[in-house]
Amino acid sequence: MQKVLIEGGYPLRGVIRVSGAKNAVLKLMAAALLGKGSFVIHDVPQIKDVFTMIGVLSALGVEARFENSVLTLNIDQIHGEAPTELVREMRASIQVMGPLLARLGRVRIAKPGGCAIGDRPIDLHLKNLERLGAVIDERHGYITAHCSRLIGQEISLDFPSVGATENIMMAATLAKGRTVIHNAAREPEIVDVQNFLNQMGAKISGAGTSEIVIEGVPEDHIGNAEYTVIPDRIEAGTYLIAAAMTRGKIKLENVIPQHIQVLLSKLEETNAHLSVGPNTIVIEGGRNIQPANIITLPYPGFATDLQPQFMSLVTLAQGSSVIKETIYSHRFGHVEELRRMGADIQLDSNSAVVRGVKQLSGASVRAMDLRAGAALVIAGLAAHGTTEIAGVEHIMRGYEKMIGKLQAVGAKIIQVDGESD
Ligand code: EPZ
Repeated sequence: MQKVLIEGGYPLRGVIRVSGAKNAVLKLMAAALLGKGSFVIHDVPQIKDVFTMIGVLSALGVEARFENSVLTLNIDQIHGEAPTELVREMRASIQVMGPLLARLGRVRIAKPGGCAIGDRPIDLHLKNLERLGAVIDERHGYITAHCSRLIGQEISLDFPSVGATENIMMAATLAKGRTVIHNAAREPEIVDVQNFLNQMGAKISGAGTSEIVIEGVPEDHIGNAEYTVIPDRIEAGTYLIAAAMTRGKIKLENVIPQHIQVLLSKLEETNAHLSVGPNTIVIEGGRNIQPANIITLPYPGFATDLQPQFMSLVTLAQGSSVIKETIYSHRFGHVEELRRMGADIQLDSNSAVVRGVKQLSGASVRAMDLRAGAALVIAGLAAHGTTEIAGVEHIMRGYEKMIGKLQAVGAKIIQVDGESD
């Protein structure tokens, strides 16, 4: 069992380059399944989830090569039987459903289960794939779907789900006629999927707005593409918050500031000083951290994937902050662990009231999921004494070389083999 040990109290100082976005690249990899050819993706992060997705694609018949952040997928004949163990390991595997169905007319995939942050159903994916013409059968923990050519439709999402928007976009790429997705998710990762699909030969417009138009094309229009994934806005936000909480000063490179606009203004509210360039951000933490309220919302609102990290920051504020989580039903796994470190947090359903304390103390804590783990790392960097974090495998799913990047900006952090527990 791997653990992370942090000796807190050292301000972060230096430069961090942000890696390619996990939540974009996983979908680009799935999108490649729509065509035959060679698909080259640059700036792919070396993280567990990418390796899991490579496993899923390989099991479907794709030849994958991953060297120096460049992922090459050579795709010819594939089949529609997704590998159960890998799909269960990573929910994002469900994104292969739309492309496989559209290209092969058949897919069988294990139903993703619940996870540490909430139930996370996929009803919106299934309902709208059915609307495009799929016949779907759910039994014994598996989803089997088949269709002849999908037919373009007007689709209105009940909620702007990121994954459902992407699955429908990919499926509709090969449909007959035009599909319009109303109330689509507007996340930057959706724009990345659109741009990649268009490079492959798709005809999609509107991503980044709540109405996306997909003009279906025949399968032989889709082929080779070469593409660079966008920088990871959540990784960027995580390091900015860490700098603010340790009262350090760092420069982020390879960042798109517009993608984290709300976080930047919230950081200013907490008394951090920012200097924003076209692809860089310099942050200097203020000595006295001020409280700030947040409410998580679909993009462009405050990202739920930054809620736990921001909660860590305001545990040291001079006053009380209210943090409301509206995207997930159970994304407060970090609260109990932050309390162990001395934070004063009251939970009431989907809201947390955080009363700032003067200091956190190092403790033995556990990461329950990826972003909760990141929140604990940040808290450990700012705490007095040593923090030991178990459950590191969650963090490694989504942050490329986190330990090395933090060490390079002065953090006293190491990864060790812990006792098995
Ligand atoms: C993506 O998940 C991200 N994952 C998540 O990142 C992120 O938290 C989320 O979008 C919201 O921004 C990837 O991109 C791989 P949703 P996704 O469909 O697509 C409900 C991280 O830490 N819903 O927008 O699964 C759902 O239960 C993670 O990197 C339905 O009810 O998110 C949730 O409450 C975790 N029915 C809400 O919508 C559906 O059919 C948002 O889900 C689909 C979703």
